[in-house]
Amino acid sequence: MCTTLISIIIMATTKVAAYTLPVLPYPSDALEPIISEETIKNHHGKHLAAYVNNLNKLIPDSEYEGLLVEEIVQQAADGPIYNNAGQVMNHRLYFEQFVPVSQYKAPNGRVINALNYHFGNIEAFKKQMTDAAMSVFGSGWVWLAADAEGRLLIVTEPGGGNPWRRGLTPILGIDCWEHSWYLDYAFDKRAHYDGLWKIINWDVIDNRMSM
Ligand SMILES: [Fe+2]
Repeated sequence: MCTTLISIIIMATTKVAAYTLPVLPYPSDALEPIISEETIKNHHGKHLAAYVNNLNKLIPDSEYEGLLVEEIVQQAADGPIYNNAGQVMNHRLYFEQFVPVSQYKAPNGRVINALNYHFGNIEAFKKQMTDAAMSVFGSGWVWLAADAEGRLLIVTEPGGGNPWRRGLTPILGIDCWEHSWYLDYAFDKRAHYDGLWKIINWDVIDNRMSM
């Protein structure tokens, strides 16, 4: 087989997108008592798994075949493909950004300096994020995002939206869908949002600020 043909086959093979369920960076019970093991198992193992499976059914033979999830979120028209790609991207970022309470470390260095600069102080930042989450009517997300000049801003997105679609870099996301909190907190979703600040992995946030 000639080298050119082999190269074409390799390129064609690598272009096929097989979207997979990301592995959690901690055990499923590691975020208790803030997020229960049952919620993690449902949220990651059922809801996110469903978004991944949906994407794998929708993408083959579409104009988006071979694209990364991030590229689909940027390019897809509103509809099922965008919705499922958005939720796959959102939940990858979401589950990656947590750490068990016992391993929590307060933000420092670049992160705390950036939050102080843009929001006054860390408590003011947390309050703005939490208030934004409380303002989301129905399903959606709140994001700390960065624009092209590195300015930080808080944005809300309906449904499976991600500010990446509008040229912003997502840095920290709060999932406002009921599946993220209802099982543990019933009608007190503010308690869930307040608790999330005890399990944010600020090292992950720091890495995202450098991207
Ligand atoms: Fe979710």
